Amino acid sequence: MSTTKKATEVGVFIPVGNNGWVASVNAPPTPGNYEHNLQVTRLAEQLGFDFALSMAKWRGYGGPSRHWDTTLESLTTMAALAQATSSIKIWGTVHMMIFPPAVVAKMVSTIDQISNGRVGLNLVSGSNPHDLGQLGLWKPLDHAGRYELADEWIKVVKRLWTEDRVDHKGRFYELTDCMSNPKPSRPPTLICAGASDRGFQFTIDNCDASFFTASDDDASLQRGKRAKELAAKAGKPEFKSYGLFTLIPGETDALAQARLDHFDDGVDRIALATQTAEYSSDVSAKQNFAAQYFIDQGARVSSVLGGAMTGSAETLARRVARTIIEAELDGITLIVPDFIEDLRFVGERVLPLLEEFGVTTRAGATTRAAA
Ligand SMILES: Cc1cc2nc3c(=O)[nH]c(=O)nc-3n(C[C@H](O)[C@H](O)[C@H](O)COP(=O)(O)O)c2cc1C
Repeated sequence: MSTTKKATEVGVFIPVGNNGWVASVNAPPTPGNYEHNLQVTRLAEQLGFDFALSMAKWRGYGGPSRHWDTTLESLTTMAALAQATSSIKIWGTVHMMIFPPAVVAKMVSTIDQISNGRVGLNLVSGSNPHDLGQLGLWKPLDHAGRYELADEWIKVVKRLWTEDRVDHKGRFYELTDCMSNPKPSRPPTLICAGASDRGFQFTIDNCDASFFTASDDDASLQRGKRAKELAAKAGKPEFKSYGLFTLIPGETDALAQARLDHFDDGVDRIALATQTAEYSSDVSAKQNFAAQYFIDQGARVSSVLGGAMTGSAETLARRVARTIIEAELDGITLIVPDFIEDLRFVGERVLPLLEEFGVTTRAGATTRAAA
């Protein structure tokens, strides 16, 4: 075991969609409403978590569980949560394809004021043609074209955050003597979860951190290392990488596995089939990492995301710490089945144990200090 402990940030992927990330009729009660997300975010803050992130999703998958048929809009939710909290970082998500950059520049500057500088933005290039297509807002671009739009979009936003007046004429956007005030009090944290090579490159060129799905399998460990390698090559040693973990805790390994079995017993095959069909319809489905990941979930007929970890507090702590160290992660984003009971279990019992396996977190230290 290493003697120097690795300091790691911890965040929660708040459940703005009903059922959270359990596509099953046996999902724990997760309404996808504001009241629940307020409780989850306040609990995360109290547990010492570093950030709360919400996804952007516009259309659900139906089926008997009505998976994600109800989803809150990300940035308006985060604006309210910014007002309701005081220390946790508040990160929202936008699909760059559907929001003009000048509109988002001002929305984020507004949340910067509401949150006293705690705002961050997760940039999504777009991966599901139906999600945005139903709005009439999907642009018929392939994977490379979507990242070309993304490159132009973020450059415009950054100029609006720092320059008095902006003139811009590009392939996708035209701004004439555009004034955008207020400016953010500090550069908002920019993250992206593109996991293709092109997505990583966009992220390293334009953002502070890369988010990707993680588990202790070799592919996840390699993804973490790849992000760091590309960042080092680009001369950005301060660039961060964050792994997304689904943790299913239990008092014992067997009880945790029994919980997953129960979710899988009620797996929503119709919702998964819809998810697969939607992602498969992308002309660039093969290059689109999210499409591959969700199509794979459908093929496995699994109620939870790939790489989900089950186990007791000790088992989870050991596996998460190993992944953090081997994949060189700077932070982790957590998904749990029940965002009250399980978040508390992870915050109070798993995170403090990470220290024994070489990883320190603010949340773990908060629990230790309270004990
Ligand atoms: C932590 C995490 C959060 C994500 N959030 C969203 C989201 O809110 N909305 C969305 O449409 N896609 C989301 N994605 C998908 C990615 O942002 C990205 O669009 C997708 O992976 C396609 O790009 P790629 O082919 O470069 O990976 C998320 C992925 C991860 C791992």
